[in-house]
Amino acid sequence: MKGIILAGGAGSRLYPVSKVYSKQLTLIYDKPLIYYPLSILMLSNIREILIISNEETIPLYQKLFDDGSDYGIRIEYALQTAPNGIAESFIIGEDFIGKDGATLILGDNIFYGNLDFIYKAMEKNDGATIFGYRVNDPERYGIVEFDEKGKAISIEEKPAKPRSNFAVPGLYVYDNDVVNISKNIKPSPRGELEITDVNNVYLNKGKLNVEKIGRGVAWLDTGTPESLLQASNFFGVIEDRQGLKVACIEEIAFNKGFIDQSKFENVLSKIPKSLYKSYLEKILKER
Ligand code: TTP
Repeated sequence: MKGIILAGGAGSRLYPVSKVYSKQLTLIYDKPLIYYPLSILMLSNIREILIISNEETIPLYQKLFDDGSDYGIRIEYALQTAPNGIAESFIIGEDFIGKDGATLILGDNIFYGNLDFIYKAMEKNDGATIFGYRVNDPERYGIVEFDEKGKAISIEEKPAKPRSNFAVPGLYVYDNDVVNISKNIKPSPRGELEITDVNNVYLNKGKLNVEKIGRGVAWLDTGTPESLLQASNFFGVIEDRQGLKVACIEEIAFNKGFIDQSKFENVLSKIPKSLYKSYLEKILKER
């Protein structure tokens, strides 16, 4: 299974910062936003990851992560020339995906809690698995409608009259067919290759699983100044209470055995004196 993080976009709701800066690099409490989706892929044991972004931002991600070897993973980068839609990821990523399945996570999506629902979806690797998460404001999202048996029967993008409160988060697990399906859909009236259109192709073929995510999991998306602040506060509270960091990619790499102790020490030696470094030193000492 390959992993893709789509981390370009216009970020227009974050204007004026989006004039000069990528949304996915903004701080969520103590680390850039993109650490959170990256950590989800790593926790799912995905070690080959493609980051798709625009021309200005790719060099910044490269500066952050290089080739991923400090975290025991392989990171490649690919260009999306304009925000042409989420489904374009699979066209841009065709060579990277090769014959494998692909899990896509949007660069501004954060999940926190028991992540078994993701691991289970990845084990299937047949058809597509997307998720349904109950939200208060369904008009803003792709919304799934279920029949009485709990089977998904429709997905509508930003419906004026939502048929349920279950939104589709920016995390999608596909088999290899997603490449061809994405190549064959047409741009929507807003000029984007819509991920909802891809999901509807799977739905019509009877190959779409929609798994509901329970209330024990937090799904935060971070498109607006308000939601960025909420996410920062959320992780500030949790990290402060437990003395453990969320989405600390060095720690995840070490705990999962992607890097050994000497590599971890080597990575540590490159980090300037900071609270982040002190935290990693504590992790090492407690081993
Ligand atoms: P959105 O929140 O839909 O869009 P945006 O980030 O451009 O922000 P705004 O609506 O304020 O203009 O995008 C969700 C995520 O997907 C975000 O991380 C950016 C990314 N994205 C791309 O990289 N390319 C695309 O073509 C699209 C549609 C999104």
